[in-house]
Amino acid sequence: MAQVPGVAVHRLNHRHRDDIANHLLLLPADDRRLRFGQHIRDEAVRDYVGRIDFECDRVFGVHAADMTLVGVAHLALDPAQQIAELGLSVDPACRGKGHGFALLQRAVLHAANLGYRVLFMYCLAENRIMMHLARKAGLTLVVEYGETDARLTLDRVAHGGALKEAMADQFALVDCMLKQQYLWLARPKPVVEKSGGEMPACELREGELAGIA
Ligand SMILES: CC(C)(COP(=O)(O)OP(=O)(O)OC[C@H]1O[C@@H](n2cnc3c(N)ncnc32)[C@H](O)[C@@H]1OP(=O)(O)O)[C@@H](O)C(=O)NCCC(=O)NCCS
Repeated sequence: MAQVPGVAVHRLNHRHRDDIANHLLLLPADDRRLRFGQHIRDEAVRDYVGRIDFECDRVFGVHAADMTLVGVAHLALDPAQQIAELGLSVDPACRGKGHGFALLQRAVLHAANLGYRVLFMYCLAENRIMMHLARKAGLTLVVEYGETDARLTLDRVAHGGALKEAMADQFALVDCMLKQQYLWLARPKPVVEKSGGEMPACELREGELAGIA
């Protein structure tokens, strides 16, 4: 399965807990219902994020240019049953840019590489967008009692690839470095007084450049 070009998907860890919670808490009520299958309160969202087991599960994210987390996929892994379950969401302001599909594909790639046999997603039958994405990713949809069970039988050869995953991680690393560098360059510069003020340590004085050359 080809990765979505241009969308860098990062692996998140326990240090991202607050960012993940903020992302989920900012979802409009209806999106939160679609994400969790029912209305849940802020406290339950915080509790869910607090209970994510980063040792066993995997969490992937997409960052905006200012490094705000705008998309999250939680891949809950059951090693005993060899079943992976996925839940994902994208900030409404960032939708329609391929973030959701990129997160879905990244999760499929990772689960297949770990040797998982089945990937599940539960979504409400009204969730046309998610059903479209699931179909596009090759998941089989079973609709029952207003809920859709999307299921993909994973195959390491068809859905996995160690090189693909290494490249996806490299791409995410470069994306992160570029965004950090951009933020550093765009940060407000300290105001330097022209006369009598202190010279910042990194600023070259007149004539120094010639001395170096
Ligand atoms: C589902 C969700 C993650 C998709 O995020 P996204 O970043 O917009 O996804 P993408 O940009 O990758 O793809 C959106 C696709 O939906 C399609 N789409 C948009 N409106 C649609 C509609 N009404 N019906 C069907 N498909 C629709 C778009 O055309 C696009 O498909 P394409 O790329 O093949 O053209 C996002 O809508 C979301 O967070 N929803 C709330 C939470 C949720 O429902 N989670 C899923 C259950 S776990």
